[in-house]
Amino acid sequence: MIFLEKIIDKESFFEIIAKRRSIRVFSNDPVPKADLERILAAATFAPSGTNSQPWHFVVVKTESIRKKMAAAVEAKMDEILTWPETADKVRRINAYRRSFTFFGDAPVVIAVLGKDHQTIVRKTIESHGVVQSRNRPSSAHLSVAAAIQNLLLFASVLGYGTCWMTGPLIAAQEIEEILGVEEPWYLSSVVPLGRPAEHPVIRSRKGLDKVVTWMP
Ligand SMILES: Cc1cc2nc3c(=O)[nH]c(=O)nc-3n(C[C@H](O)[C@H](O)[C@H](O)COP(=O)(O)O)c2cc1C
Repeated sequence: MIFLEKIIDKESFFEIIAKRRSIRVFSNDPVPKADLERILAAATFAPSGTNSQPWHFVVVKTESIRKKMAAAVEAKMDEILTWPETADKVRRINAYRRSFTFFGDAPVVIAVLGKDHQTIVRKTIESHGVVQSRNRPSSAHLSVAAAIQNLLLFASVLGYGTCWMTGPLIAAQEIEEILGVEEPWYLSSVVPLGRPAEHPVIRSRKGLDKVVTWMP
């Protein structure tokens, strides 16, 4: 066992976690490949179901590709707004537009891909016809999420801003086509990355009294 408490001061590590913020405005400063490699390496040290590591990272620096991805999300927004069921929600839906598309302006966009992975136990349960009463996230989804969180945290240690984004997934198929993503891979999230050009305050969090149940 490696004694992690000797590597980093505990309070500093807590601060790294507590002070990370989603960043939505970036400077144009280029991001050196060496930094991206460290950040992506941190992502790959996340835990994953049976160590399946069901993730892949597509790093997009080219402006024309970033813009094409964001334009696909814009176009999907426009399409949604033509649907009859959105007629009375135009303003509310449009309010999401920027928070789904700003990633196109970041110097780097990381498209995080996932792929399903099932243990023999899960496969057996499914083939037995057991229907789960509720939708639960798959082990693969959870593993990819853990990798993304590692990525965000280590990026913030290196002074980069990031934002975990699933809004762009309204155009998931179009983005997959732009990036040449093929099955079994699917687009899980989009993470813009760059030097922050905004310094938002820490958003409040629910207190432990609201989110923890201590069993007697
Ligand atoms: C799974 C997930 C999806 C998210 N998708 C978006 C998004 O599409 N656009 C956006 O602006 N922020 C997105 N966010 C960022 C959240 O809005 C943000 O994490 C939350 O408001 C808390 O703020 P903080 O990250 O600064 O602490 C997403 C976060 C998560 C975890």
